[in-house]
Amino acid sequence: MKNYWDNYYNDFKGVLKPSSFSKHCKKFLKNYKGNIYDIGCGNGRDTIFFNKNKLKCIGLDQSSAVIKLNKKKFKKIKNNFIKKNFVSFPYKNIKKNFSIYSRFTIHTINKKQEKILINKIKKLKKLDYLFIEARTIYDELFGIGKKIGKNEFLTSHYRRFINPQELKKEIKKHFKIIEFKVSKGFAIFKKENPKVLRIIAKKI
Ligand SMILES: C[S@@+](CC[C@H](N)C(=O)[O-])C[C@H]1O[C@@H](n2cnc3c(N)ncnc32)[C@H](O)[C@@H]1O
Repeated sequence: MKNYWDNYYNDFKGVLKPSSFSKHCKKFLKNYKGNIYDIGCGNGRDTIFFNKNKLKCIGLDQSSAVIKLNKKKFKKIKNNFIKKNFVSFPYKNIKKNFSIYSRFTIHTINKKQEKILINKIKKLKKLDYLFIEARTIYDELFGIGKKIGKNEFLTSHYRRFINPQELKKEIKKHFKIIEFKVSKGFAIFKKENPKVLRIIAKKI
C-alpha cells in the first residue's frame, strides 16, 4: 500500500488545515513538555499545527513522496519529518518523554502490525499519552471493496475497520483510558461524516 500513498501525495491538492482531532488534543496537551510523534503524518497538517502551537511534534510516514514534500514545504522544521515505518520505529531509543498521536492510521495497518505496535509501546517508560482517531466497523465505507480478512477491505487502498470495544480492551491492559468516544461529527470531510473512534489514554 506504500505506492498508493506515494501516488496520492504526488498528486496532492487536498486539505492542509488541521484536523478537528488535533485541535481537540491540543486543548488536552496545554503545557505539555514532551514531544509528540505524529505516526503516519501524511501531508503534515497536524504536525505543523502542533509545532505552531508550542508543542514539538515529529511526523513519521513511510511514504518517501510525502516526507520529501513536507521537508520542502516546511523548511524550518524539515528535520521533524522522518521517513519511517511507525510499526518498526525504535521508540525505545527516544530520550525525552513523548506521546503518540495516530490520526486515521491505525485502520491502515493490519491486526498483526497493531499487536506489534501495542506490544512495543506498552513497555516504554518515556511514553505519556496515546491519541487515536480511526475509522470503525460502523463506517459507511465498511463492506465496500474486496473483503480480504476480518473487517479488512481493499478499494484503491487497504482499510481495516476498527472494532472500538476490541481496541479499547487491548489498550486498557496497559493504559488508563481518559476518553473513549465513538461518534459522527468528528471527521467530516466533503460529504463524508463517518462514525469514528477517539481514544485518549495515559500510560500506566
Ligand atoms: C489516511 S492517511 C492519514 C494522514 C494524516 N494522519 C491525516 O490525518 O491527515 C494515512 C497515512 O499513514 C501512512 N502510513 C500507513 N501505514 C504506515 C506505516 N506502517 N508507517 C508509516 N506510515 C504509515 C500513510 O503513508 C499515510 O500517509
